[in-house]
Amino acid sequence: MNLILLGPPGAGKGTQAVRIVEKYNIPHISTGDIFRENIKKGTELGKKAQEYMNKGELVPDDLVVEIACSRLLEEDCKEGFLLDGFPRTVYQAEKLDEFLAAHGRKVEHVLDIAVEKEELITRLTGRLVCRACGASYHKVNMPPKTEGVCDTCGGELYQRADDTKETVENRIEVYEAQTKPLVDFYEKAGVIAHIDGATGLDNVFADIVKVLG
Ligand code: AP5
Ligand code: MG
Ligand code: ZN
Repeated sequence: MNLILLGPPGAGKGTQAVRIVEKYNIPHISTGDIFRENIKKGTELGKKAQEYMNKGELVPDDLVVEIACSRLLEEDCKEGFLLDGFPRTVYQAEKLDEFLAAHGRKVEHVLDIAVEKEELITRLTGRLVCRACGASYHKVNMPPKTEGVCDTCGGELYQRADDTKETVENRIEVYEAQTKPLVDFYEKAGVIAHIDGATGLDNVFADIVKVLG
């Protein structure tokens, strides 16, 4: 099962990914998470990525393609994978296709999660993320039981550096300009399914399961 989660910042890609990987037993590969991990560790890659991420701009294509493809070569991706936040440009999508074709594989489903702009801004500016397990919460709509503490693992909750109103608005613009063309790209490939991302966590997941079977 070779899957891609497509959708604007805040559509719920990370949230649904947790459920999808649990049900279908495939690894969750988020290029954003890989970069944040590298920023935390202070690696060269992290230093390069950080300047783009903090502005809400895309990290340069070649850097991202290399990171994603080398991750896909790992053993746990043999039976399938769930890509979250990659590809994000037509160039990245073409490189991914080339890479998969060279290994006798292809993209099987692209889940395009749609949510309107105002809702995306509300979700992201209120989002809290667990430093330990990555679970996400919302200050108003999905608050943790104890302020600042993760319900599931007790980890510390923080706000992502790129979740300020200004950066969120830029990320949405960057999505519209550079990532949205992928909808057409995968439409032509006949692998895209459109999911309404504003119907509540369980309904969104149920719609995804309908597509994947
Ligand atoms: P990345 O980490 O991929 O961030 P993003 O695409 O901006 O998306 P988010 O993670 O913010 O949103 P999400 O869709 O995962 O939503 P979530 O489930 O958390 O990328 C960050 C940066 O890294 C980029 O800006 C770029 O610089 C760089 N980068 C990464 N990949 C790259 C690439 N391929 N090329 C170049 N650069 C790259 O949900 C959001 C909130 O909504 C949460 O609070 C959640 O609780 C809530 N929520 C979720 N679902 C629902 C629902 N159904 N109803 C109500 N609330 C909900
Ligand atoms: Mg995410
Ligand atoms: Zn946690």
